[in-house]
Amino acid sequence: MIPESRVTPAPSTPPETAGARLDVEGVTVRFGGITALEEVSFSVPSGHVVGVIGPNGAGKTTLFNVVCGFARPQQGRLALDGSTFRPRPHRLVRSGISRSLQGLGLFPGLSVVENIVAGAGTTARTGWWSGLLALPRSDRDERELRERAEMLMDELDLTRHAHAQPGTLPYATSKRVALARALVSEPRLLLLDEPAGGLGHDEVLELGELVRSLPSRGAGCSVMLVEHHVDLVMAVCDELVVLDFGRVIAAGSPAEVRDDPAVAEAYLGAAVDV
Ligand SMILES: Nc1ncnc2c1ncn2[C@@H]1O[C@H](COP(=O)(O)OP(=O)(O)O)[C@@H](O)[C@H]1O
Ligand SMILES: [Mg+2]
Repeated sequence: MIPESRVTPAPSTPPETAGARLDVEGVTVRFGGITALEEVSFSVPSGHVVGVIGPNGAGKTTLFNVVCGFARPQQGRLALDGSTFRPRPHRLVRSGISRSLQGLGLFPGLSVVENIVAGAGTTARTGWWSGLLALPRSDRDERELRERAEMLMDELDLTRHAHAQPGTLPYATSKRVALARALVSEPRLLLLDEPAGGLGHDEVLELGELVRSLPSRGAGCSVMLVEHHVDLVMAVCDELVVLDFGRVIAAGSPAEVRDDPAVAEAYLGAAVDV
């Protein structure tokens, strides 16, 4: 059971600056005859951690891809801080958004520290293209970026692996590299797709603590956490959205969602199918 104190949203309303607000309004995505998302609406309020859960095939990754700009909805819109938002994957960082993908998505040819620095993408003043072309960033940008990368490596216990190739590290360590890479740009909204996938029990607990700390990091960060590890989302999220067959079947606090019969049915149905 989750203690009641863990599931009630924080009493103090976060300040306006604490992370971006994301609104998903009536989003529908079809792949040929498959409706992956059907009129999905919910919000990630500023400074909140919102979990999107649902059985396999429910549409979680598709929703994640819509917010990243990898998938275009046939209907509906997104709003960031109240303004219509058409995400483009290569401009996300500039919009104050970072993501970590299901799996790792690290660059195998780069070291840990190089992978983390690469997460800054477009934030350095001279930009993404000069990064690709290996043109120098300004010394100050470069120094600040290195400092942020070093602080993150320290925080996530990666310092001793700084010059290792991600492929040589245990999976859980590589997952922390992927998180550090997502955080180095100091996002106002962090999108996580199944960050607990492949992690052991203690590693999931550590991840939960980190996610819980995100809203109060730096200038503040909101989080959309797509995850089918139910214990993790119950423990760290302010609100949950439950998808099943592309539709929102429940939404609310973790306690409300936990007690919702439609949610139990969706998960039990999935378990029986397996
Ligand atoms: N690129 C695609 N082309 C065709 N069907 C897809 C594609 N991506 C996802 N789907 C289908 O959309 C549904 C939702 O998938 P997905 O978003 O991956 O679910 P989840 O992440 O919750 O497991 C599934 O039926 C899946 O087969
Ligand atoms: Mg998925």
